[in-house]
Amino acid sequence: MLGSRSLEKAKSAVDEIISEKNRDYIKNNLKSAENVSVASGCDILILTVPHENALETVRSLSARFRGNQTLISAVASVTKKGEEFTSSNGSNGMSYAQKINEVVPGSVKVAAAFQTVPANILYREKEISADVPVVTNEPETYHKVASIVSEIDGLRPLYLGSLRLSGEVERLTALLLNIGKRNGLKSPTISFPSF
Ligand SMILES: NC(=O)c1ccc[n+]([C@@H]2O[C@H](COP(=O)([O-])OP(=O)(O)OC[C@H]3O[C@@H](n4cnc5c(N)ncnc54)[C@H](OP(=O)(O)O)[C@@H]3O)[C@@H](O)[C@H]2O)c1
Repeated sequence: MLGSRSLEKAKSAVDEIISEKNRDYIKNNLKSAENVSVASGCDILILTVPHENALETVRSLSARFRGNQTLISAVASVTKKGEEFTSSNGSNGMSYAQKINEVVPGSVKVAAAFQTVPANILYREKEISADVPVVTNEPETYHKVASIVSEIDGLRPLYLGSLRLSGEVERLTALLLNIGKRNGLKSPTISFPSF
């Protein structure tokens, strides 16, 4: 399900994807919905809204979660200041994922992942080789998120630790955007070779 605040917008995004991808699997399976329906209807949710709106979005949906769900936040802490991208934690020095974890029902397990994966590379299905740091408090949640990451060719999930460390991944996006801009690298990502 592709969610939006507006059903019309979700429908037009789904139509666009179906026409650009022209693949039966997508045509038959990708559905549009309002965010409220996604929150109540999906076992695994991926939150992809700007960081300024992340908390209010989750808060507005919190009564809709049906519980026993996994919420993966791809939210990154990035603000453009002039020619540079900076990141900062929000209030109380807490990361977005930590704050989100405080507003969802206890049976919704929160993880942070995908902050270092450029969306356009995934959408254009370009060949990629990258590591995806995942933070979450429970090993079972990590395994769920890791299996989704692993389904995407070229992505390797790496467990980073508990949500206490989510600020570290949320700040990586600003690092990548600055490196890309200053050095002419298109869509940089990260990987951790081991020797
Ligand atoms: N783009 C990337 O490559 C990338 C990579 C890693 C992480 N991220 C992170 O993922 C998140 C989304 O990035 P993006 O590039 O997809 O951002 P985006 O295109 O600016 O926004 C994504 C969606 O957020 C919703 N949105 C916008 N303003 C909102 C508001 N005031 N309240 C609630 N929802 C709102 C909109 O959906 P509707 O209007 O349809 O509701 C919009 O289509 C960000 O936190 C970003 O840092 C992005």
